[in-house]
Amino acid sequence: MLNRRNWIYLALMVVLLLGVTGVFAQDAPSGELEVFSWWTGGGEALGLEAMIARFSELYPDVTVVNAAVAGGSGVNARAVLTTRMLGGDPPDTFQVHAGEELNAVWVAAGLMQPLNDIYEANGWLEQYPQGLLDLITDEEGNIYVVPVNIHRSNVLWYNPAKLEEWGVTVPTTWDEFIATCATLAEAGVPAMAIGENWTQVHLWESVALGVLGADGYNGLWDGTTSWTSPEVISTFETLGAVMDCANEDMNSLSWQDASQRVINGEAAFNIMGDWAAGYFIADLGLEPNVDFGWAASPGTSGNFIFLSDTFGLPVGSPNPTAVNAWLSFIGSAEAQDIFNPLKGSLPANTTADIGNADLYNAYFQSAYTDWTSNSIVGSLAHGVVAAPAFSNAFAGLIASFQGDGDAQSIAANAALLAIQTGMAQ
Ligand code: GAL
Repeated sequence: MLNRRNWIYLALMVVLLLGVTGVFAQDAPSGELEVFSWWTGGGEALGLEAMIARFSELYPDVTVVNAAVAGGSGVNARAVLTTRMLGGDPPDTFQVHAGEELNAVWVAAGLMQPLNDIYEANGWLEQYPQGLLDLITDEEGNIYVVPVNIHRSNVLWYNPAKLEEWGVTVPTTWDEFIATCATLAEAGVPAMAIGENWTQVHLWESVALGVLGADGYNGLWDGTTSWTSPEVISTFETLGAVMDCANEDMNSLSWQDASQRVINGEAAFNIMGDWAAGYFIADLGLEPNVDFGWAASPGTSGNFIFLSDTFGLPVGSPNPTAVNAWLSFIGSAEAQDIFNPLKGSLPANTTADIGNADLYNAYFQSAYTDWTSNSIVGSLAHGVVAAPAFSNAFAGLIASFQGDGDAQSIAANAALLAIQTGMAQ
């Protein structure tokens, strides 16, 4: 007969055994995993699809639901996401930009779960750039998302053969650009291809950096550059002059339409983030330095406007175990080497194989050189430097400006907005 003590020993042994055999271990990921983003095609989707395909090989019991909502830069996806998050119906995981788009909304509302355990388990605190980690960490040291990439915003794209045909060179300042615009007008070619409203904000941030320099540009976000200063007013005047050199149908063009005009020889230049490289290379099968060329946007050589796409774990995510597996995967060097060569971006994880020229062609090598040697500033159009309260309303001001061309008025309205949204100290 077992006495009481032996019973206790026996019970302890059983508990230990169950633990070792995994009965008490965390469940293996299974079920549905809804991945919410705005990468739906036209160069946007290939990287995501490739990453999902590899994840599905590793986790065959998880069914990934690719819940991408069309619309460049997330203009539509963000509205859908907001409704779902506030309606208690969050996706398992969603795309969000590192910086204020994450912090001023989802972290501030207490709707994101910290991911420090995942970072520690994977050794990522040593593998991600500190500046990027700072943008996704709160004051208590909680890290909220996993970045999949580094994109560059201030890139001027062109078609080398067409420039030669028209007898123009790549402008390195806005004055040069305006001079080139006159030459191209004689050939009946718009100097700049511009798309819908958010691409105009995107263009303005390149113009602003080119006109103000890195310190002046950064000062817009910490209140040390006055929105009504002559320099800032001139950023809008320059934007107006560039718009005068562009296609008139800009509001009806997606970013892909606008960058494709350059490839087709229907416009000379386009300023777009390097997801355009992903579109050209992975989607259109074009070759860098042959079918398309690039340079820092005028006046911004030595400066890199950066942004980063990330995914996180919202409060109420239906399948957190699968999200943990997803996030652990997408932050790995393996996933980032699958995703980024298709997406047009650099890996955010510094242990990825960026030195491999078979994987990362001439475009990536040049972007990487600049990323590691330039002054880095954050993007307004893609959520880094300002809360959506500012950036959404600023996009509205750009829409009015496109109609009235009034540089004084937009500068004054932006100044007001900076005060209202707490940016001007
Ligand atoms: C950005 C995003 C990029 C790309 C682009 C165009 O906001 O960070 O990854 O998707 O929009 O849609």
